[in-house]
Amino acid sequence: MCGIVGYTGKRQAASILLEGLEKLEYRGYDSVGIAVLNDSDMRILKDVGRIKDLRKSSNNAKGVEGTIGIGHSRWATHGAPTVANAHPHYSASGKFSIVHNGIIENYAVLKERLISEGVEFRSETDTEVVAQLLEKCYDGDFKSAVQRTADMLEGSYALGIICTDFPGVLFAVRRSSPLLIGVGQDENFIASDVTALISSTRNVIYLEDGEFARLTPDSLTVFAENGDEIEKEIAYIDWDIAAAEKGGYDHFMLKEIMEQPAALEKTIEPRIKNGKIVLDDFKMSAADLRSINRIIITACGSASYAGQLGRIVLEKLTRIPVEVDLASELRYRDPIIDEHTLLIVISQSGETADTIAAMKEAKLRGARVLSIVNVVGSTIAKLSDDVLFTWAGPEIAVATTKGYTTQAAVLYLFAVWAAHKMGKIADTEYARYIEEIKALPEATKKAIEINNNLEEIANKYKDNGNIFFIGRNVDYAVCMEGSLKLKEISYIHSEAYAAGELKHGTISLIDEGTPVIALCCHEALFDKMLSNIKEVKARGAKVLCVCLEGADMSSCEADDIIFVPKTDPLFNGSAEVVPLQILSYYIAKAKGCDIDKPRNLAKSVTVE
Ligand code: AGP
Repeated sequence: MCGIVGYTGKRQAASILLEGLEKLEYRGYDSVGIAVLNDSDMRILKDVGRIKDLRKSSNNAKGVEGTIGIGHSRWATHGAPTVANAHPHYSASGKFSIVHNGIIENYAVLKERLISEGVEFRSETDTEVVAQLLEKCYDGDFKSAVQRTADMLEGSYALGIICTDFPGVLFAVRRSSPLLIGVGQDENFIASDVTALISSTRNVIYLEDGEFARLTPDSLTVFAENGDEIEKEIAYIDWDIAAAEKGGYDHFMLKEIMEQPAALEKTIEPRIKNGKIVLDDFKMSAADLRSINRIIITACGSASYAGQLGRIVLEKLTRIPVEVDLASELRYRDPIIDEHTLLIVISQSGETADTIAAMKEAKLRGARVLSIVNVVGSTIAKLSDDVLFTWAGPEIAVATTKGYTTQAAVLYLFAVWAAHKMGKIADTEYARYIEEIKALPEATKKAIEINNNLEEIANKYKDNGNIFFIGRNVDYAVCMEGSLKLKEISYIHSEAYAAGELKHGTISLIDEGTPVIALCCHEALFDKMLSNIKEVKARGAKVLCVCLEGADMSSCEADDIIFVPKTDPLFNGSAEVVPLQILSYYIAKAKGCDIDKPRNLAKSVTVE
């Protein structure tokens, strides 16, 4: 997601735009730009990096006069972070300048048509197509050009548009990407969210899908999709600025937990077309895949635990041996890797030092590298042979949530795609798995909705010193992530343990009141997990059981039970992890921990 701002009023626009963008930087920050109109003179300033970099390169936009403008901070999804790809984009003659948040899904067809009509493009982005279309549709009527252009677009877009023929006039258009209007005194604003407006005005209008608006310093008209003027209610925002940045949540971590259904939708939906998995510009052929005799998944922390989920699915479906190797270990182990090894590198930031080092070691030994990352233009993305982006949007909290679940979703997509390409699964299975993956955003949403008592359960566990997570198969992989979430934000020691291993030593630690979180979502092993619960209960443990909705709990001795929606057993991890994330969040909150910035940690560990 990207950040958009716009202003039209009596004050100088440049500084207002830069300040507004600074409030939106958490939405995306790999490149940035503003366009300011002074009568019919359009000035556009752009830079790679953050707002501070643009301030520096433009000397704080010194000398950029004008009382109307638009601005944009970019979270690249298509087209690397470069000055050419940074917004605002402008039309061939420079008459129109626009900023855009979203994805124009039919931009390639539109771009081809425009090129055939002689239009020359300056960027790789979908947004520039919109700027060129505006000029094509323009016959002197700004509103009509906006409407006709919007009618040709498919996909999601929030647009801010200015035109040299109409000083003071700003158009805003909304479809599937958030866009608000800030109503001021002799000035009006647009923004992606409240954060950018709240220091100037608390009176806002939320544009709905299909609606567009015409703003001037002293007028504001909202139109329905058909161009009819409509009345809109002005809402008053009483959030403080800090709360506004977090969308009204107390912490970015909780906001990002709640964003997971939407993030998974963005990860999955564009990659399933006409009942088939379409993996971007993935270059491995079926022959390439068949030449692979070993897959190594390497990453750190939560990314490695997403890798554990991927290992189970990949090995089950492709029948290629798969192992997960911590990057900090792999890099020093003189591993046996050759051209028949596929190395899958997982990283939210794409900048983790250990992961980069392990990747380089493997490349030296001939491995083919597929990376799964969230940040376009990151080091790991650039060093890979193939990249599958998670498209989770910026993740601000140090403790990953949507980063982890979208990594798992990409691994599921890749495993099903590869297995079918290699002929390891039949068309019917392929189709079934696709439907199961498509259902994961809804399952994650339901896992959030049905577990509304987690704050109460958290209070039972917050004062413990040691918490055990036990599980088998996929559940054991999820235990690893659940345990890390708890440790890193609540500072409670915790251990993820293969439930079948307990009796080989660790059960000696179970004492009166020892808390054990038992993940029992793997139906084929449910009875064995019930036995494990009995074993630890017999020794005094306090047990929280996580199991599937509809499971027969009549012989379960757990003290508390959390239910999660049923999904294909291979993909259980996506919904099952959610209550563990929320439980850790509320335990840490009850303990008064710094949830978004836990002690000793950084969002990206770029040093060894
Ligand atoms: C996860 O909550 C932690 N912040 C940490 O384990 C993280 O997953 C790890 O450092 C890897 O980071 P990356 O995904 O950016 O490479």
